[in-house]
Amino acid sequence: MSEEAPAAGWPVRLAGSDQRFDAPPDVSLLIAARAAGLRLPSSCRNGSCRACIGQVESGEVVHSIEWPGLSREEKAEGWILPCVAQARSALVLRIAAAQAAPNHRADAGPG
Ligand code: FES
Repeated sequence: MSEEAPAAGWPVRLAGSDQRFDAPPDVSLLIAARAAGLRLPSSCRNGSCRACIGQVESGEVVHSIEWPGLSREEKAEGWILPCVAQARSALVLRIAAAQAAPNHRADAGPG
């Protein structure tokens, strides 16, 4: 049973950092992060190479392809492929090497 997504999308926080973005339910987490100025690791962007792999600490996602490159055990442990995963609730994700995209300065301060 899913709730309806907030207008801006589900709030997503990256564990161990203060990085956040909103993920519309029909957009991959990879694309939603990029739209917010965060570059997550990626390569194939079709759910096969596993370059983008991350883990859900809390929340619910679905994969937009039937057989993402994850084992049943990995899925049970919360591993996801953000290039083909979509939020279905607020999320806390653990993704190594997430960083601000070079064309977006989230830390822009005075001066
Ligand atoms: S970028 Fe290849 S599986 Fe996600």
